[in-house]
Amino acid sequence: MNYKAPRGTYDILPEDQAYWRHVIEKTRRVCELYGYEQIDVPVFEQAGLFERSVGESTDIVEKEMYTFLDRSDERMTLRPEFTAGICRAYAERKLHGRPQPLRLFTIGPAFRYERPQAGRYRQFYQIDVEVLGSQDPAVDLEVMQVAWQIYEDIGISGLSFQVNSTGCPVCRPGYLDTLRSWYAQHLGEICGDCTRRHGQNLLRLLDCKNEPCRTISEGAPRIQDSLCEECGGHFERLRSYLDDLDRPYEVNHRLVRGLDYYTKTVFEVWAAGIGAQNAVCGGGRYDGLIGMVGGPETPAIGFASGIERIILTMKQEGIEPPDTPKPSVFVAYIGDEAKEAAVVLAQELRTAGVGTAALWEDRSLKAQMKQADRTGAAFALIIGEDEVRNGVVMLRRMADSTQASIRRSEVLDAVKEGAS
Ligand code: HAM
Repeated sequence: MNYKAPRGTYDILPEDQAYWRHVIEKTRRVCELYGYEQIDVPVFEQAGLFERSVGESTDIVEKEMYTFLDRSDERMTLRPEFTAGICRAYAERKLHGRPQPLRLFTIGPAFRYERPQAGRYRQFYQIDVEVLGSQDPAVDLEVMQVAWQIYEDIGISGLSFQVNSTGCPVCRPGYLDTLRSWYAQHLGEICGDCTRRHGQNLLRLLDCKNEPCRTISEGAPRIQDSLCEECGGHFERLRSYLDDLDRPYEVNHRLVRGLDYYTKTVFEVWAAGIGAQNAVCGGGRYDGLIGMVGGPETPAIGFASGIERIILTMKQEGIEPPDTPKPSVFVAYIGDEAKEAAVVLAQELRTAGVGTAALWEDRSLKAQMKQADRTGAAFALIIGEDEVRNGVVMLRRMADSTQASIRRSEVLDAVKEGAS
């Protein structure tokens, strides 16, 4: 039987792990530096949670969710994103009773039935960062700073930040009316998708990638001109914080995002050169979502960043991650008696915290040395019958193949010293 990994999924092989480790370690460090705590939520939730929060007429809910009936006939969905699950946890676990705002992050897989291409998968990994319980625009800035610093610490430089405000329930309906009437005069010129969205998800017309639609949306009325005083002031303050920090950003009036829960600030980080899927990160405010999933009305903001796209960008920019740790020592042996001594020695070293590999399998010394090379160990410890009899071990420095016989009782100190 020949099985294949499902379309849009991939294996992260050992040789790819250095990239993943680098991204995840930097992310954790930055999140902790900013005082964010880790949360983990289930990989699947009740389907209705995502349908309501992400929005019935979004691409995600209409075409991309992995929804199934479990064995009790309950409709479940593999999470297409984290924000809804975190808001559900906030409401259900009464996290609003804790000192606010709550600063959280999580890292894990998400699932969307999309057409796979470079940087777009059906199982992909997100770094997700959320602040729940604050409406201060300085928090919007802080969340953007977290993203910035993660990329900066990873070593990525060619990024641009796009920001916009999508208004709130007070001012958005008026803007949507203006936009609808404006687009009504252009119905003959827009693509089929946009015509369909004109009735359901009007804002998405602004970010259609088709060239004719782009030209039209460039001339569309801008939301900035319709923002209420509260949203306008919020956006102005965010921009002045960004200016204070000298962050390069662009106000992009066509940035609307593909999820319905956003209010006020939205932002994305774009990387050149990773193809059509150029958003490395996307996020924004969602002041109505926690109330919608059953919690108290609570303002919140966050972002998510696809790890695959971060790694693609690293490769594009030629950023090499640090090597993954190698064992310090490789234990080799010749003969049965020596094997017993080698098993004990290897365990002793590991217990003392010295990374130790071995091949076992009773292979030739040559084969064992080849494997020692492959593991990247700094030393090989070789035991034969003579060594067992004399209470010694042969210590070989792999870098220059020099070797010396040392007392068994001195092995630990010798390899620890050599490694430091
Ligand atoms: P999103 O824009 O749908 O937002 O996804 C965020 C990021 O996840 C994207 O910018 C991209 O890097 C990555 N991504 C999304 N879909 C795929 C895919 N099929 N393959 C690879 N990478 C992908 C959200 O998910 C929101 N929950 C973000 C957020 C958090 N808003 C507020 N808090």
